Amino acid sequence: MRIITRIAELRGLVRDWRLARESIAFVPTMGNLHAGHASLVGAAHTHGRRVVASVFVNPLQFGPNEDFNAYPRTPDEDFALLSELGADVLFLPTVEEMYPKGSAGSTFVDVPDLSNILCGAFRPGHFQGVATVVVKLLNLVQPDVANFGEKDYQQLTVIRTSVEDLCLPVRVVGAPTVRAEDGLALSSRNRYLTAEERARAPQLYRALDRARRSLESGETGIAEIEREGMEALRAAGFRPDYFEVRMARRLERPQGRNVDVVVLAAARLSRARLIDNLQCRATGDLGN
Ligand code: PAJ
Repeated sequence: MRIITRIAELRGLVRDWRLARESIAFVPTMGNLHAGHASLVGAAHTHGRRVVASVFVNPLQFGPNEDFNAYPRTPDEDFALLSELGADVLFLPTVEEMYPKGSAGSTFVDVPDLSNILCGAFRPGHFQGVATVVVKLLNLVQPDVANFGEKDYQQLTVIRTSVEDLCLPVRVVGAPTVRAEDGLALSSRNRYLTAEERARAPQLYRALDRARRSLESGETGIAEIEREGMEALRAAGFRPDYFEVRMARRLERPQGRNVDVVVLAAARLSRARLIDNLQCRATGDLGN
């Protein structure tokens, strides 16, 4: 596997692949790779002859009081895992390479409605930072397919929308969330949990699963389901930001009968802010 840190070199390689009519699949990450990321690289191999992974901790998507500096950086382990998974290239740019004018003053991509709800309401500017870096990376790698996890459901929705709105010639493919045996979604931020917190963390998944089962069995009281979710998280020692049911495609408030919905939650367990979601079919009539 080749490590590329410079944009010019990446562009040269992509040009050669394109001339040879080789398809490209791309997996953008912030590193500290785990089995969730590995599943995306596995999926990428089914979509492209060439597989590019990127590791870039993107300052633009972290708020001033967030964990940009503390975010786990494990380049040697990431390199070893990606080589083992058969990626062709690891793109590992510096912040200066990606934002030569500084991250504050450059052009950005904003998806207004989707970026201000759910996580966006608690992390102002976050999805603007995500959409901007993803569009830049897609322009650099020029993949046929880009693979993202459903674990970050709102992020996936923001990315699908930016790609559609900006007519980018790439197919965005989502992949199911990879979980530990007790249900906890794998995340680089799980590293922040103490052993005692790690034991409590699966309560997030369990609360989502209870909501999913209620919706699947025809329950229609969305406000009640959301309140119960918040209470379950508080009882387990979390400080929840939100617990909400939304339409699966565009994340509007749920309405209609037999509709695809997603239950999403974000909650803090001391230092760690965990997010998770579960999709299901709500069988009752959710009104309009
Ligand atoms: P990061 O958190 O490193 O995640 C990279 C990709 O892995 C994302 O598409 C994410 O949804 C997926 N992923 C993370 N945990 C997963 C799990 N348990 N199961 C399946 N997929 C999982 O998300 C980002 O980085 C950044 O915001 C990025 C898109 C790279 C832009 O900077």
